[in-house]
Amino acid sequence: MPYFKDKVAIITGSSMGIGKATALALARQGAKVVLNGRDVKRLENAKQFLQSQGFEVIAVSGDVRSYKDCQTLINETIRQFGKIDILINNAGKSSRGYFESLSPVVLREMMEINFLGCLYPTQCALPYLEITKGSVVFISSVAGIRGLPETSIYCASKMALTSMAESLKVELASKGIHVGIVYVGITKNDPGKTVIDADGSLLELKNRQGNHAQKPEQVAEVIVNHVRKRKFKKILTPLGKLNWIANIVFPRVVDKFLERSLERIRKMNL
Ligand SMILES: NC(=O)c1ccc[n+]([C@@H]2O[C@H](COP(=O)([O-])OP(=O)(O)OC[C@H]3O[C@@H](n4cnc5c(N)ncnc54)[C@H](OP(=O)(O)O)[C@@H]3O)[C@@H](O)[C@H]2O)c1
Repeated sequence: MPYFKDKVAIITGSSMGIGKATALALARQGAKVVLNGRDVKRLENAKQFLQSQGFEVIAVSGDVRSYKDCQTLINETIRQFGKIDILINNAGKSSRGYFESLSPVVLREMMEINFLGCLYPTQCALPYLEITKGSVVFISSVAGIRGLPETSIYCASKMALTSMAESLKVELASKGIHVGIVYVGITKNDPGKTVIDADGSLLELKNRQGNHAQKPEQVAEVIVNHVRKRKFKKILTPLGKLNWIANIVFPRVVDKFLERSLERIRKMNL
């Protein structure tokens, strides 16, 4: 019997990329999935894609920066599926540009999408996750392990999730709710993926090639296993693991290395 048979899983930001791949991976293991995103057409395409494979899926459009939209996402899930077993807080966006050049709008928006946009759905879903003793997982980044140049506010917004996950893990332990966090490494992107530039405009990313980038399906498999095993922390990719260890053992060496690699990092981010 598929492991997640009849479990209900919400994946925020699941109309494309890692979120969509995670929804598909959960559905393949028997879950009923709830898709979310702002662009209604893209969301509908993703829903039809999953439905065409015979999976039980609904789509609830909404912006995770809006508490009201997050409440609607949870209410609609309960109305149509009756319960919530899994919440994957995946919706997120990266930024570009040195801190001194970042518009205040960008600073606010990054924290709203990547940080508050994980807290709002979580708070709305908690009463239901308590009933099912379910799972809530935060999708962070290897850039959330230590602050990196060029993506300072993105790193900060993802690092804030670590603190939140640690607090929640303890607060929710007696309720039997599993809390997890996954630090994703560089991943190949779907066409049309955008990041926020220093002035607030959207920059379209070119498709990442090469072996250093994982496929969304590989990342999705790790996320699904993380939920299944009810693990707390997972760091992806050798570079992510190196980033974590080197910062504990040789923090000054890492600082110096990053100072010398500014141009390389800028090019890698394009
Ligand atoms: N790709 C990487 O290399 C990488 C590396 C490390 C960590 N991550 C993290 O993994 C997660 C997914 O990344 P990805 O590369 O798959 O992203 P992506 O391809 O850009 O897809 C993002 C998804 O989130 C939705 N979304 C964006 N803003 C939203 C909002 N305010 N409210 C609701 N939905 C929103 C998008 O749909 P709409 O735009 O239509 O709303 C889309 O479905 C993010 O949290 C990201 O930070 C990615």
